[in-house]
Order: sequence, then structure tokens, then C-alpha cells
Amino acid sequence: MAATRSSRTAPADITAAATASFERCADPRLRELMQSLVRHLHGFATEVSLTEDEWRKMIGILTDTGHITDDRRQEFILWSDALGVSMLVDALAHEAPPGVTESTVLGPFYVPGSPRRGYGESMVQEEGAGVPAWVYGRVRDVAGNPISGAELDVWQNGADMLYAVQRPEAEEDHLRGRYLTREDGTYALVAVRPVPYPIPDDGPVGRMLAATGRHPWRPAHIHMIVRANGYKTVTTHVFDAASEYLDSDTVFAVKPSLLRTFVERSADDPDRPPAITGEWVSLENDIVLAPGEDHGAVIDPGRTA
Ligand SMILES: [Fe+2]
Repeated sequence: MAATRSSRTAPADITAAATASFERCADPRLRELMQSLVRHLHGFATEVSLTEDEWRKMIGILTDTGHITDDRRQEFILWSDALGVSMLVDALAHEAPPGVTESTVLGPFYVPGSPRRGYGESMVQEEGAGVPAWVYGRVRDVAGNPISGAELDVWQNGADMLYAVQRPEAEEDHLRGRYLTREDGTYALVAVRPVPYPIPDDGPVGRMLAATGRHPWRPAHIHMIVRANGYKTVTTHVFDAASEYLDSDTVFAVKPSLLRTFVERSADDPDRPPAITGEWVSLENDIVLAPGEDHGAVIDPGRTA
């Protein structure tokens, strides 16, 4: 029925008009995205009876988010992480078949171009980085066959809770490196035991966490991207099974299959690798890759530390 001069405009009419405005969009995917966005955004405002004051505050929060974002600080990604959207998008994109190592968020501290390091070499370049950790395992396919020449691109934080990229004065390649598996699929490296750390909480996301009674902490983990020609690349973490915050990771990245036990070892342990002195820990972590191709899997010879 056509609207008449006396008919009133209901909230639903506004939603319908905004949705219909994209009907002639030539790109069907863009049309779907915009119409669904409008439907859900209007649905949100309608469901909570959003007030004008609340709407103004939301605009202010987005404005603050833009102002604090630069080439070293990405507050929009932090929102995505803290609201669970990053993990959701990752889960939708990477449905791992049974047995394959599960993926999790890349996080904001990955810097491409880590140095290539040899089997068993240390990626610790500064004193006092933490308890040395011998991290080892095997990269294999779903049938259990070893994958040789797979690359593990590894990065983590130190005892000060920080990644090297967060400290301008840090050794650029401290606590990061790229390792290749041997003929039998094995790899090994010297890291440190990671520690929990808070996501940057001095901006709008941190204020949201405080206002809602949430904490900014992530449980201790080591990041890995594992690439091999002929296999799908996996971006993942190894979580310390003894860490705090495993059940309340502020970015929702914990998957039970990614928990591993760091075994505490004494200085006189006969298995102590030559690159380690004093007390240490060991961590066994196998990786299983799914077959497939991935543009990220191109392995370049890289540089050495
Ligand atoms: Fe991290």
C-alpha cells in the first residue's frame, strides 16, 4: 500500500529504506555485505532502544579509535580482537580437518622477514629474556608422514612481557626466527618460556574492558606460522598449559588442542642442549598440516642472523 500524507513513519520503515538503497549495487557481494550490515546495525539499535546519548558516545569512541591508531598502534584490530571478531573470521576461513593443527589469531606483533636460523639454534639475542626453552617437534601430514623443508616462522615475548617490536631499543631479531624441518620432519629451537601479557589498554578498548569488568590479559604463548610447499599454511600459537588466563584470554584465541606442557629441567639434566646454560624447560610440539596450496607457502631462502 502506498504511503499517504497522513501515514506515520515507523522505525522499521527507515531500516527498509536503508536496506533497499543498495538494491541496485552492481557487485552482488558488496550488496549482500551492505544490506546485511544495515539490517544488523539497525537490529542492534532497535533491540537495545539505543538512546541519542549512547549513539553520540559510540561516535566518540570510534573517533578516539581513529585518533590513537597509527603505523605502530592499530586500535581497530584491537576492537576486532577484544570483541572476538578476529577469531570468528579466522574460524570461518580455516576449518581444519580432524587431526590438523588448529589456527588462531596472527596478532599485532608479527613482523615479516625474520632471520633464517639453523636446527637447534637460539633466537634469544638479549640477556635476561627469561627461562631458556628447548622447543622441538615434528611437522607431518595427516597420515603421519614427515614433511621436510617446512618453515616455522616463530615469535614470542620475553620476561618483560614485551615483543621486540614494542621496544625501539631492542635487537630487531630478538625472540624471532625462521626454522626449517630436517629430512625426517623434525625441528628444534631455543626460545624462552613465554609469559602472560596485557593487550594495550590505554585507549578506547582498554576503557571498554575496564568499564565492563574484563581484564586485558592474554595467557602465555609462542606464535608460529608453519608453511610448506603443497600444504595449507597454518598461523597458530602454542599455549603454556600452566599459564594463567587460559580460560579468559581477552582475545578468545585459546583452543584446547593448542595447549602444551613446558617440562621443567635442571641445569645438570643430561639432555641439556649445548646452547642452554642453567635451568631450562622443554616443550614438545608437533604440527600437522592439511594438503593444499597457499600463496603464503612460498618459502624464500631468507637471510641468516
Ligand atoms: Fe602474542
